[in-house]
Amino acid sequence: TGMVTLDPGFVNTAACSSEITYIDGDAGILRYRGYPIEQLAEKSSFLEVSYLLIHGELPTDTQLREFTQQITRHTLLDEDLKRFFDGFPRDAHPMPVLSSAVSALSTFYQDNLNPFDEPNVHLSTIRLLAKVPTLAAYAYKKSVGQPLLYPDNSLNYVENFLRLCFGLPAEPYEIDPEVAKALDMLFTLHADHEQNCSTSTVRVVGSSEANLFASISAGIMALFGPLHGGANAAVLDMLEDIRDQGGDVNAYVNRVKNKEPGVKLMGFGHRVYKNYDPRARIVKATADQLLTKLAPNDHLLELATQLEEVALHDDYFISRKLYPNVDFYTGLIYRAMGFPTKMFTVLFAIGRLPGWIAHYREMIHDPATKIARPRQVYTGPAERDFLEIEKR
Ligand code: CMC
Repeated sequence: TGMVTLDPGFVNTAACSSEITYIDGDAGILRYRGYPIEQLAEKSSFLEVSYLLIHGELPTDTQLREFTQQITRHTLLDEDLKRFFDGFPRDAHPMPVLSSAVSALSTFYQDNLNPFDEPNVHLSTIRLLAKVPTLAAYAYKKSVGQPLLYPDNSLNYVENFLRLCFGLPAEPYEIDPEVAKALDMLFTLHADHEQNCSTSTVRVVGSSEANLFASISAGIMALFGPLHGGANAAVLDMLEDIRDQGGDVNAYVNRVKNKEPGVKLMGFGHRVYKNYDPRARIVKATADQLLTKLAPNDHLLELATQLEEVALHDDYFISRKLYPNVDFYTGLIYRAMGFPTKMFTVLFAIGRLPGWIAHYREMIHDPATKIARPRQVYTGPAERDFLEIEKR
């Protein structure tokens, strides 16, 4: 079988070819299907970008309308699935709840179907894009003990999600268009990032011919960890800790540099970017704008800005090419929008969903796809004889 190369973390191993997303980590460039992220963030919308990622081209007006209509029609959950949320404890983290619920979707829609069958994959795509925000909002409602609302299909994708989270049955919910637009843009910025941990997970699980729901459910759990999607929540915990200990950013940076166990500058560093993350630049500008309006007395933004300033001029970070990544400022925005820290990674999951779907679909159509089955370098004992228990 030839030589096996050891590459922990797949730092130098490409596992597939892909036409979806281009990253140049040294130059700080990100493009979806060739379109620069800056242009998409400014001019496009999350559903349009979802279409682009999944189908490869920007939609025509008719195609976008049809795609949006299909998604809008599928936002309701089966009433039986609504009861599913009753089984979790009140303080359940919404990420495992979301992953379990997505996994459960396959019991409603996939049993006995060929998972790679094209009409089937298409319908699962629509169902996921439609139902994941509903599921995410219900995971949140469960955690605050509020009644679950039905989706309002007269609203757009993000407005509907905001209302499902923050609306109450007894009173009208007023949507702040600036908040809805910012959230749509943040979803767009998260929509794909080539072979990151969760996307690779979706591909690995899907390579066994598991269905789309099962594969996405696994991807959500890969995103949960603090080194990946969980970083947006970890940044906020870090900023609050620094604030509660007197707001000394230099003291925190010193702890990071001394490599105190478990102390990292969360929201900094990236496997691929060795330059400013282009998404972070856009998020930072949005944070400046939106926080001035929504949370003018929020000292955390000030702390984050100071922290960034100190790190960008410190040799530890310069020599390791550590720059702010997309998660450094997102948490501050989500918090100002009213989301609790626990929901931050769920918002990342909603944003990343079209990317996961696009990669699953690319994988099943790629003739080079094989079941993912890495090799290893065995370092355990050589052959030895079994010892009876009384002789050990
Ligand atoms: N704070 C302090 N030191 C760091 C950090 C950080 N955030 N990130 C990397 N380093 C150091 C690391 O200790 C190592 O130093 P040394 O050579 O002295 O041992 C050097 O930089 C190289 O780091 P690495 O761990 O080999 O890099 P990696 O590519 O394996 O890890 C990473 C990438 C993102 C997991 C890591 O930078 C990290 O843990 N960052 C904090 C968590 C975070 O913000 N994650 C979100 C990533 S972006 C959103 C997403 O796509 O998930």
